Amino acid sequence: MKTRIIGTGSCLPANVVTNDDLSKIMDTSDEWISSRTGIRERHLAKEETTASMSVEAAKRAMENAGVTAEEIDLIILGTVSADYVTPSCACEVQAAIGAKNAVAFDINAACSGFMFALHIANAYIQSGIYRTALIIGAETLSKIMDWNDRSTCVLFGDGAGAAVVRADENTGFLAFDLGSDGSRGMVLAGLNRTNNNPLVETSKELQYVHMDGQEVYKFAVTAVPASLHKVLEDAGISAEEIDYFALHQANIRIIQSVAKRLKVSEDKFPISLDHCGNISAASVPILLDEMNKNGLLKPGMKIALSGFGGGLTWASAVVEW
Ligand code: UT7
Repeated sequence: MKTRIIGTGSCLPANVVTNDDLSKIMDTSDEWISSRTGIRERHLAKEETTASMSVEAAKRAMENAGVTAEEIDLIILGTVSADYVTPSCACEVQAAIGAKNAVAFDINAACSGFMFALHIANAYIQSGIYRTALIIGAETLSKIMDWNDRSTCVLFGDGAGAAVVRADENTGFLAFDLGSDGSRGMVLAGLNRTNNNPLVETSKELQYVHMDGQEVYKFAVTAVPASLHKVLEDAGISAEEIDYFALHQANIRIIQSVAKRLKVSEDKFPISLDHCGNISAASVPILLDEMNKNGLLKPGMKIALSGFGGGLTWASAVVEW
């Protein structure tokens, strides 16, 4: 039994913030941000929450899949920026869409969150426990950024992406590769909540996201090609046979480097970071939904997916569409 993606959806906040807008509130420029990252603008939430964007993305994915809320057995949501510690964002989505038959929970694998969630759903579906799952990656990163740290805050955005997956006898995911290296976790770190215990003195350090960009960059340009090579080998497919590579949207230079290392044309790497920035767990499903809406995805095509980032974590997969 395989796990097939049968629908996608996404939601971005209404408020668009360009690099020029940022240069009015901090010492930065469109030239610096776009030449170093490829990012030109991002959507930053004002009214929207992680849950409200997740619900919208989920509804659009269900509509695209032609699946009702009652048919969903499982909701897994990858995020580092849920609105509450409890209830989970997945449970908020369950309530809002009326998926009363579903089991719902969040996972934290940062920018690999959507891919890790897909892998969990794949294991449940292959074992026959569940048949239909809603997988979501959603973030409101703007609320956990350090807006005094120009080297990090300009990179990120807010949004949500979703996919409905279902058991299928013929087609779907052909291989997964996941990894974690907690020993290097502090190169991309942010405290979830400051300690509210009156008996404990807490430091304000790391209250917001802090990143050693160069270390994360070095990690990404080695871990992602290695993971993609592994997953291609496991699927028995060469890089040339892949129609599209849908990668986590952190930096155009990382994507160009991966394309070069795999000896594949950059044209096979669709981009959303130019108008979305880096949306951590939401990056891959939003990109996938844009590809779907733009008619890029045809039955039988082979797509490679890869997420990487905080943890450190990485995850790749090959799927037959
Ligand atoms: O999803 C998680 C995955 N995250 C990533 O993949 C991020 C990976 N890392 C990167 O993409 C890059 O390391 C960055 C884009 C974050 C930074 O690029 P860089 O080429 O490594 O720049 P840098 O940190 O070495 O900074 C170069 C200069 C510094 O000035 P000096 O010391 O050379 O005078 C910074 O102070 O650029 C300065 N700078 C800025 N200037 C204008 C840093 N941020 C900014 C800014 N605007 N926003």
